[in-house]
Amino acid sequence: MTPTQAFVGGAAVITGAGSGIGEALAMRTGALGMPVVVAELSPDRGERVAGAIRAKGGQALFVQTDVSDPASVRALADAAFEAYGHVRLLVNCAGLTVMGSICDTPDEVWDRVINVNLRGVINGVRAFVPRMAARPEGGYVSNVASLAAFSMAPNNGPYFATKHAVLSLSECLYLEMEEYHWPIKVSVVVPGIVESRIFADIAVANEAEEAHRQMLQGAMKSVGMPADEAARRILDKIAADEFVISTHPRFSRILATERSEYLRDLAKPRTSSTDFMSGPGD
Ligand SMILES: NC(=O)c1ccc[n+]([C@@H]2O[C@H](COP(=O)([O-])OP(=O)(O)OC[C@H]3O[C@@H](n4cnc5c(N)ncnc54)[C@H](O)[C@@H]3O)[C@@H](O)[C@H]2O)c1
Repeated sequence: MTPTQAFVGGAAVITGAGSGIGEALAMRTGALGMPVVVAELSPDRGERVAGAIRAKGGQALFVQTDVSDPASVRALADAAFEAYGHVRLLVNCAGLTVMGSICDTPDEVWDRVINVNLRGVINGVRAFVPRMAARPEGGYVSNVASLAAFSMAPNNGPYFATKHAVLSLSECLYLEMEEYHWPIKVSVVVPGIVESRIFADIAVANEAEEAHRQMLQGAMKSVGMPADEAARRILDKIAADEFVISTHPRFSRILATERSEYLRDLAKPRTSSTDFMSGPGD
């Protein structure tokens, strides 16, 4: 199916919709004619995106949401179902990255990245899936991981570990929906580098981390895919009922092949031969 055929009969709920990939998904689903619930921690960002959708003739509601808090996400689900009756598409997109080694990352930073990147997805699934599945037409649930879910690297362990976990959670959820015959199509998004604020918003602890952060921002500027193009690819593939939604097919194939060989050989960890920040990758 195309997005126009698939995404009818209910709202789109996009977490982290105040910036980057989430913002672009919110704008595109709004342009498709779906009512959009902009779920975002920052009121300025959330209100701006909801206003932009309405300015283009769409319907949008901003609900300030902290995805790391189960009560906040349950309140988001209440607001979405009350406003629009049914949720046809949920994208658990909110996420953040941090910097530093596994041992040097402070406890509170570990907690934040786990609570937003992983608990945030768990909270979204648990608050929405049973209610979406209660209607026979069901809907689509897509969790945003990363190409990090296919790979490994030093000095970004908290991010990589949460993204592997989002892939695993999505696989298990897919199988549960099959086993229980719930009408929910599950997918997981593995973006490559997409223009966004994710590196600009990294909290840095020292000059070396700031230099690294600036390097990442520079790479994003030179090779990052425009967020609107990433959103177009993501929505097309969700509507086509793909499970692993890749924005950058060439890098996805290389990293997935390397990972499958590494697992097959029960090999020792090694960094990828391909730097997915080295080019557009499609
Ligand atoms: N941009 C990339 O290159 C890239 C690559 C791979 C994966 N991703 C993933 O895509 C997703 C979106 O990231 P992005 O790059 O668009 O980043 P972004 O920083 O531009 O947008 C993320 C949004 O999430 C919001 N947010 C943060 N914590 C939140 C919380 N607790 N509750 C609700 N909202 C919260 C932020 O305020 C921000 O508006 C993330 O899960 C990220 O890991 C991004």
